[in-house]
Parts: sequence; C-alpha cells; structure tokens
Amino acid sequence: MSVNSAKEMLVVAATRGFAVGAFNITNIIQMEAVIEAAVARRAPVIIQTSVTPTKFLRPEVIAAAFRAVAESSPVPACLHLDHCDDLALCKRCADAGYTNIMFDGSKFDFDENVRLTREVVDYCHGLGDITVEGELGTVTGVEDQVRVAESEAELCDPARSLEFVERSGVDLFAPAIGTAHGVYLTENPKIDFERFEKINKIVNGQRVIAPLIVHGGTGLKPEVVRRLVALGGAKFNVSTDLKYALIDATYEYISTHRNEYNPGKIDIAAKRAVMERVNYWIDMLGCEGKAELAGGDRCGTAASQNGAAASA
Ligand code: 13P
Repeated sequence: MSVNSAKEMLVVAATRGFAVGAFNITNIIQMEAVIEAAVARRAPVIIQTSVTPTKFLRPEVIAAAFRAVAESSPVPACLHLDHCDDLALCKRCADAGYTNIMFDGSKFDFDENVRLTREVVDYCHGLGDITVEGELGTVTGVEDQVRVAESEAELCDPARSLEFVERSGVDLFAPAIGTAHGVYLTENPKIDFERFEKINKIVNGQRVIAPLIVHGGTGLKPEVVRRLVALGGAKFNVSTDLKYALIDATYEYISTHRNEYNPGKIDIAAKRAVMERVNYWIDMLGCEGKAELAGGDRCGTAASQNGAAASA
C-alpha cells in the first residue's frame, strides 16, 4: 500500500468511527517521523504542508520525498496542501504529485468561495484521483500566512453546507465550528458540537459525500477530540503541536550538548519528539491498526501516477 486517495481513506474513517491525523510538516525529518510513527502503529496518515514551507522547499521536492518515503511504507498515506488561496500554487502542487489540495476560500463571500473552489476541484479531478478540501466559515488564530481574529470569525452556516459541497464539488469539507489554529487562548474554547453534528447529518446523513475535517487540533482536550470523532470528524489537523515538539527538542538538545556540533544527533532528538506527539494523536483518534481498512487495495495510485505524468 501507500500513496492513497484522501477521500477514500476518510470515508472509511467516517463510517467506521475513527479519524486520521493530518500533520503539518516543515521538513523531511518531520515527514519521516510522522510516517515512521504511523507505520509502527499501522495507522493511516496524512502529511500536510502549509503554503510557506511548500514554497520554500518547493512542491516538486516535497512530493518526490513523500513518494520515496510513503510508497515503501505499509500504511496508506496522503500528501495534502493546506490552506492555500493561490490557484496557481494549488495547481502546481497537484501537478507535482500532491494527493489532496485544500483551497481555502473562507475569506471570500459564499459565491466566490464556491467559484474558486470549483476551479480547483475541476483541475484536480481532471488530473485523476486528486481530491480537494474546501472550507466554509472561518477558523480563528494563526496558521502560516492565514491570520483570523476572533472578531472576524464566522462559524459555518449548516443551512448552506450541503449547497457549498454540491456546488463546489469538494471531496472533503471543513466547517468552522469554533476550533482555532495555534495555541488556545482560553482553557475551554467554545466548540459548537451541535453545529458540527447538524452539518454532518445534512451533508453525510444518507451516505458520506464529504467527510468532515477538524482544524486546530493542537490544544483540544482529549474529551473534545473524542466527541468530535464520534460526531463524524474524519481528519484532524495538527500543526502547532509538532512545531513545538521539533523546536523544543532541538533547543533542549543543543542546550545540553553545547559543544557537540553533530546535526545528525539533533535530528534524532527532534524526530523522537515528533514521533511521540504523533503517537499521542494516533491514540486520541482511534486509528491504530486501521491501515488495511483505510487503505483498500488501491495503493500506489494517485500521486505515483500523477508524479509519473509530471515527470514525463
Ligand atoms: P493547529 O496548529 O492548532 O494544530 O492547527 C492545525 C491546522 O488546523 C492546520 O490546518
């Protein structure tokens, strides 16, 4: 198995009552850490890159590294572009071999969000099995270049959720329900569970059309995560948690080995710390041992074919 369709993986998760961790990475050490932890636990997994690291490392390099790491791994894995409002970058990542693209049109009005998201969907679906995530409402906090103040936040309107999914054609749906990017500023952030449940019933009540995505995983209490999984959250985005793990472990290692000057050992310490956090999330999301279930028998398809096309 390995490189997989995000939608297929998440439809299984949504119908079988577990969720898949989607981890934002900024370098190859983190990518390897995430995949290695997933392999050890036989869990399906999603690697994500935000816009800044995507541009910095380049989509072609990230996709090639992902293919090399994921294709030889015995768990289903996806490569997802996170929160992108740049159509050209969405298309470039799809061409390069990303398996899932998030067009974030949440700052636009409803019709413009639908129109732009649809353009990405048509492009990605035209290339083959590349799936698309769309967002309705706005998630507060800071994620990469996207900064949304609480006063600007708008939760997803359940009444328009199915219309958004149908008109845009998205495969995965991220409704804003009160979760936030970054570190939560209050002990008990107000998460609108009822809204989430209602949206899931409206969109996926008959059959799962667009599995629901939860943004802002870092800092959510275990009972909140478990409740959202039970209500249909199929993909949990985790970014800040891994950044803290990487930076704290690096700082700690350098501080205690000030005269060593051995980058490989710093990488090992950082990798261990990231794997620990991924293990935590695998426990939380209930996806341990779900690799076979979530992988189907279609591994080595989307990104590898697409990557082959891109390099032809
Ligand atoms: P956190 O940084 O809060 O984990 O949010 C990640 C996220 O939602 C990325 O899209």
